Amino acid sequence: MNIKDLVSDFETRSAEEILKWSLDKYGEKIALASSFGLEDVILIDMMVKINKNKTRIFTLDTGRLNQETYDLMDTISKKYEIKIYTYFPISNQVEEMVISKGFNLMYDSLENRKLCCGIRKVNPLNRALSSLDGWITGLRREQSITRSHIEKIELDTSHDNKLKLCPLADWTEEMVWDYIKKNNIPYNKLHDQGYPSIGCEPCTRAISPGEDIRSGRWWWEHPSEKECGLHLSNANKKLQGKSP
Ligand code: ADX
Ligand code: SF4
Repeated sequence: MNIKDLVSDFETRSAEEILKWSLDKYGEKIALASSFGLEDVILIDMMVKINKNKTRIFTLDTGRLNQETYDLMDTISKKYEIKIYTYFPISNQVEEMVISKGFNLMYDSLENRKLCCGIRKVNPLNRALSSLDGWITGLRREQSITRSHIEKIELDTSHDNKLKLCPLADWTEEMVWDYIKKNNIPYNKLHDQGYPSIGCEPCTRAISPGEDIRSGRWWWEHPSEKECGLHLSNANKKLQGKSP
């Protein structure tokens, strides 16, 4: 497989075409990483319609998600009759962190916030990816400066060069909502309360109209820091040569 050829070929392909290619070629060796944001529920809908038997979904349950997110996970699982493979943090890592730094360590320093994301998100992602050839994500270029150069297909340099697909990379927010409404897809209730992006409860808040869509995530940090470590290869690529 020549990745450069695929990058240019996939740029003009639809999300459904890319998902069909990946399910035909990799089956359950490729999986969707879902936080159950709008993009992820769209991808679940598409994958199930293309080939339900080969659809594999995993989520990283940090232990700090909103109740609305757990509600949606159950709703989606029932509606599509699919299992959600759930990865939790290693319990003794969380225990040690909380005992030494407290429950709300993320507000104290960038270092602490990254420690928490590392233990609660990045380590579980590494476990999820260890049995896979690749992963599918709901990243879109429009979401942030750190994402504006993502490709629809790439080799993930942060994860053993595994395949990483972002079938919605060139979708706009309007396209996202169109698909959700037209296909009557259940979505997180927090979106109707001013949350464009949903992550962990202590680190995400509603935004006002006109604010940047990532501004509710880690709102106390500089925009260039707003990645939790799941998508570092993209973030690094984008930030090379940029001043903070
Ligand atoms: S984050 O890195 O800032 O948390 P964001 O919430 O924008 O990411 O989600 C981008 C993509 O990362 C999602 O579409 C999904 O593919 C993946 N992702 C983020 N959080 C999780 C999670 N908790 N479990 C599984 N996948 C996730
Ligand atoms: Fe911890 Fe916040 Fe990162 Fe969630 S987003 S893992 S609560 S620092």
